[in-house]
Amino acid sequence: MFHNLLRVGLVLASSSFVFAHAVNRQGATSTPFDGQYLHPNSSNEAVEWWWGQAIAQPVGNNPPAAFQYLFYQGYPFVLGPPNASNPEFYVVINGFFPNGTQFSATIPATTGTVTAVGQAVTGTWKGAGGFQGSSDLSTFTVTLDAPEYGFVGTVKLTSNAASHYGCNTTAGPYFDSLVSSDSDTALSEAESILFKQLGWAVSIPGAVSEVDMTINGSPLKFTGQGYHDANWAPVPLNAVVDTWYFGTATVGDYDLSYISVAPVNSTKVLNTGYLSHKGVVLQNQCSLDGTKTTDHSVVTPYGLYSDEVSGVDVPTGYIVKYILENGDRYSFNLTSGGLGSAAQNPDQIVYHRWVGTASGGKVGEVPAEGLTVFEWLNPGLAVYSPAPQA
Ligand SMILES: *[C@@H]1O[C@H](CO)[C@@H](O)[C@H](O)[C@H]1NC(C)=O
Ligand SMILES: *[C@@H]1O[C@H](CO)[C@@H](O)[C@H](O)[C@H]1NC(C)=O
Ligand SMILES: *[C@@H]1O[C@H](CO)[C@@H](O)[C@H](O)[C@H]1NC(C)=O
Ligand SMILES: *[C@@H]1O[C@H](CO)[C@@H](O)[C@H](O)[C@H]1NC(C)=O
Ligand SMILES: *[C@@H]1O[C@H](CO)[C@@H](O)[C@H](O)[C@H]1NC(C)=O
Ligand SMILES: *[C@@H]1O[C@H](CO)[C@@H](O)[C@H](O)[C@H]1NC(C)=O
Repeated sequence: MFHNLLRVGLVLASSSFVFAHAVNRQGATSTPFDGQYLHPNSSNEAVEWWWGQAIAQPVGNNPPAAFQYLFYQGYPFVLGPPNASNPEFYVVINGFFPNGTQFSATIPATTGTVTAVGQAVTGTWKGAGGFQGSSDLSTFTVTLDAPEYGFVGTVKLTSNAASHYGCNTTAGPYFDSLVSSDSDTALSEAESILFKQLGWAVSIPGAVSEVDMTINGSPLKFTGQGYHDANWAPVPLNAVVDTWYFGTATVGDYDLSYISVAPVNSTKVLNTGYLSHKGVVLQNQCSLDGTKTTDHSVVTPYGLYSDEVSGVDVPTGYIVKYILENGDRYSFNLTSGGLGSAAQNPDQIVYHRWVGTASGGKVGEVPAEGLTVFEWLNPGLAVYSPAPQA
């Protein structure tokens, strides 16, 4: 499996990718915040997904109990010829029971539609389940009804803070403000798609979560923290992305998230960071790495775990630093708790996701404690090695 994927990945990386059937972006203003931005279908290469997570305080040394959902239209990674028997619409579930046992599933659906009345959205993945986002973006409820796949129940997220896009703007969900229009001609096709057509809308930057699910006959029931966002792109991520770090955490009264993405064949690393305290936004910025000394964030993976499941070296945690416009500094430590593969699900060569604990706050103050989910998407098969400690 690993060798096969690797081979396919390397073949892809060394052939030039054709941006066939690219779907044009739509105006943000006409689209509900958490609605349908593109229209992925089996005859285009677009992908759109609604992601979210719920997580609870860990029991003993176990990874935190957790539930993560992905309502997919299309595919984020296409490593080889398209396979007509793969469903266009499906739901991917990953998580942990409180005792540390992992669960995961891919539930196919016959349809995947998102309709809206004003800002209220309804997702219907026939055969799997669906979701409902309230018109004020304060709640998001996932319902699964797929007993034949072992999943029946609900996850409800109640937001801590207002929705946001990635670049301190309410104008739209794209990252184009990090490049000036006269640099357009200097952008590669991958950079251009990543900065101008990959969308990110965070309707719920942090939440209280209530999980009431039956999974393969066992209950998963908890009240904890949570988060919800959505992304879309006209082509699979591997066409434009080399490597992608994402994470979110709720730590005391702080809610935070960040993305750091290196486009293929590019040194222009897209960086976006969001930090709020009791719902008040301290930072919400996007920038190219190395272009700012204030109002930016820095993500540094640390540690080294030789991951036997995916066959690659991976980090054990991330330090996320926020330097505000006024120079104030905040720092957060997101860790998988030294649990290696036991805290990682999915655990694939191109897709790693960890659950864990987090601590931090304003530098110099007593750190607060919390919970985190963080990811490393690595379609470019970049080799990880820990940065020298700063
Ligand atoms: C990246 O660079 C390699 C080597 O120059 C080239 O073969 C490949 O087509 C490039 N990929 C993209 C997506 O531009
Ligand atoms: C799929 O989307 C393309 C636009 O990307 C559109 O032209 C085509 O009609 C759609 N096909 C179906 C079956 O909906
Ligand atoms: C296509 O997908 C089906 C169902 O997921 C799988 O059984 C089959 O092996 C795949 N075919 C190829 C050529 O990968
Ligand atoms: C922009 O960032 C500032 C903090 O630097 C914050 O007060 C404001 O709410 C942010 N605006 C948006 C639209 O995110
Ligand atoms: C952990 O909990 C799950 C769900 O209740 C159960 O199926 C599994 O057997 C448990 N594992 C152990 C090692 O006790
Ligand atoms: C981050 O947390 C881990 C686990 O507790 C710890 O080993 C590491 O030293 C911490 N790193 C920093 C820079 O605080």
